[in-house]
Amino acid sequence: MISKTTIDKVFDISRVEEVIGDYVQLKKSGSNFKGLSPFTEERTPSFMVSPVKQIWKDFSSGKGGNVVAFLMEHEHFTYPEAIKHLAKRYNIEIEETEQSSEEKEKASERESMYLVNEFAKTFFVKQMLHTDEGKSVGLSYFKNRGFTSETIEKFDLGYSPNEWQAFTDTALEKGYKLEYLEKTGLSIVKGEKRFDRFKGRVMFPIHSMSGRVLGFGGRILTNDKKQAKYLNSPESEVYHKSKVLYGLYQAKQTIAKADKCYLVEGYTDVIQFNQTGIENVVASSGTALTPEQIRLISRLTNNITVLFDGDAAGLRASIRGIDLILEQGMNVKVCLFPEGEDPDSFAKANTLEDLQAYLDENAKDFIRFKASLLLEDAEKDPVKKAEIVRDIVNSISKIPDQITQEIYIQTCSSLLDVSEDVLFSTLAQMLSKDRKEASRGIRKKSLQVVKETPESSPVAKVDHQYVLERSIIQLLLRYGDQTAIFTDFDFDFEEDKHIEVKREYVVFEKIFIELQEDEVEFSNALFKELYDQIIGIFAKERALKIDTFINHLKPELAQEVTSILMENEKNQLHDWKRQEIFVIDKSVLDPREVMETILNLRRYLIRKKVQDLSEVIRDQKEDVDIELMRETMEYNGLEVLISNKLNRVL
Ligand code: CTP
Ligand code: MN
Repeated sequence: MISKTTIDKVFDISRVEEVIGDYVQLKKSGSNFKGLSPFTEERTPSFMVSPVKQIWKDFSSGKGGNVVAFLMEHEHFTYPEAIKHLAKRYNIEIEETEQSSEEKEKASERESMYLVNEFAKTFFVKQMLHTDEGKSVGLSYFKNRGFTSETIEKFDLGYSPNEWQAFTDTALEKGYKLEYLEKTGLSIVKGEKRFDRFKGRVMFPIHSMSGRVLGFGGRILTNDKKQAKYLNSPESEVYHKSKVLYGLYQAKQTIAKADKCYLVEGYTDVIQFNQTGIENVVASSGTALTPEQIRLISRLTNNITVLFDGDAAGLRASIRGIDLILEQGMNVKVCLFPEGEDPDSFAKANTLEDLQAYLDENAKDFIRFKASLLLEDAEKDPVKKAEIVRDIVNSISKIPDQITQEIYIQTCSSLLDVSEDVLFSTLAQMLSKDRKEASRGIRKKSLQVVKETPESSPVAKVDHQYVLERSIIQLLLRYGDQTAIFTDFDFDFEEDKHIEVKREYVVFEKIFIELQEDEVEFSNALFKELYDQIIGIFAKERALKIDTFINHLKPELAQEVTSILMENEKNQLHDWKRQEIFVIDKSVLDPREVMETILNLRRYLIRKKVQDLSEVIRDQKEDVDIELMRETMEYNGLEVLISNKLNRVL
């Protein structure tokens, strides 16, 4: 693990405007910088960077955060990868925290294996481009397949000489240890003898998402039927077949930009697609797609189109695997190529326009595709049809989003000519059976979203509670440590009425005191977590340094804080003043605004509490819990009180 000191140092020294400047052309705009969003295609800049707050915000995609969030978004780095990238950029030495000796050994073993792989990649590339054998055998093979030099370079394609130990000997000479040559599978050791695993093959390096070489695929160039056409690196400490997607490193940015990923079978499909001009494509390399692979894609997009060969004998079998993609909440389409064609051959024989048009026209929604495919089999056999219905409803049951499920039930009802009622009850049966299983977590989440409808008023589509909770966070971030005079309404027992009293408070204290009074909590989990953290820091340090604070938040929270803080900058983007639109200056503390927000939220939360309690009481019918009644009345009274206070504040 990277030590905390190193992480702090990285945040200390990194400048968000410099790092983003590596990717985006930034222009000064007031105290900020602005530029074209690197996440969308746009002509007018909506991307802002604040050097003061050390954060960025992309108003066209809604993304934002600190320097690390930018690298994670743009380069699709993991957190440690982003820190390492920054450390390298700013020449900061990375200090690792104490690891157990076993961990150290593992880490250094992995590191050594990466180095060996990196060396091998360079070796194979050099062999292909700069030796006679390489050029006449390897390079000419790729050229014959139609790959240009750029494509060959983009995928680091290479050639392993047709000798027993050309690679192994060179690597040993350069000082790489035989142990790691064997562990990466590049060399095969038999007693005193060593062999190159990939002797006489063209080489396809397999990269991790961040570009490290994990392993290789090698294709044979002879027609020797006794040898496998493709040979892959064996599973190892660095290469786990089930967690890798071929081509993802080269495709990640296009996938995110296009918001779509094509999934094909193998190396040549990926490369030929790139050659033709479609770059958002990856391959699962022979194995059935795994949940880990789907998660890699889902970091970039929710839309996946699976491409199948025309003569897919195994089509019906492969289709089973697609339920797994649905289960992860992805939108899945399927596209079948014409008889006798695979993605590679089809892309090679067509122009970009034709290929794109074919994909657009033939990509079918998965559930519909499956239904029509299976119906072909069943014809008029009712027993078989019942099986199909169950099979399809089973696929639908994997979709985590309820609304999507419902839409599919409706579609399939007409496709399969079965009533919606029957389909819904089959679905319900499957769901209740599933409920005990592990996938439950995801589904539960989607149910909550549906249930969390806000205000009772049907006209108000705005989620008031969300807005109010967010405003509280905003007030805390902007003015938490400032002092102001607030008007309290104390109850005067002698006069038997409320009287106005002016008192001085620090804003965060006022908010905290007011909110804890009713013992109700924030409903939005993100805001609740932020609230607790902010109050915690103020209570301890009486102040909050925004940049340090953001840097220590987890990404979802940092993103939320950024968007709250960058609201003023959003207004700067458009020239509001010239359009004579009045924008409230949020940089000046107004105690009335604070009170109004607090009281509105309190009233909202109390109303909700009263509603919840009333519902419970209604359900109890005869034996109503007296204690519950009393509690409800108390909250009712409180609501009236707060409403009165609100009227006076305004
Ligand atoms: N593949 C594999 N292992 C095999 C055969 C195929 O991993 N034994 C994968 C490869 O990734 C390959 C893809 O499936 O890119 C397509 O297979 P195929 O068409 O047989 O490979 P090609 O190299 O295109 O061979 P050919 O020129 O004969 O079409
Ligand atoms: Mn082929």
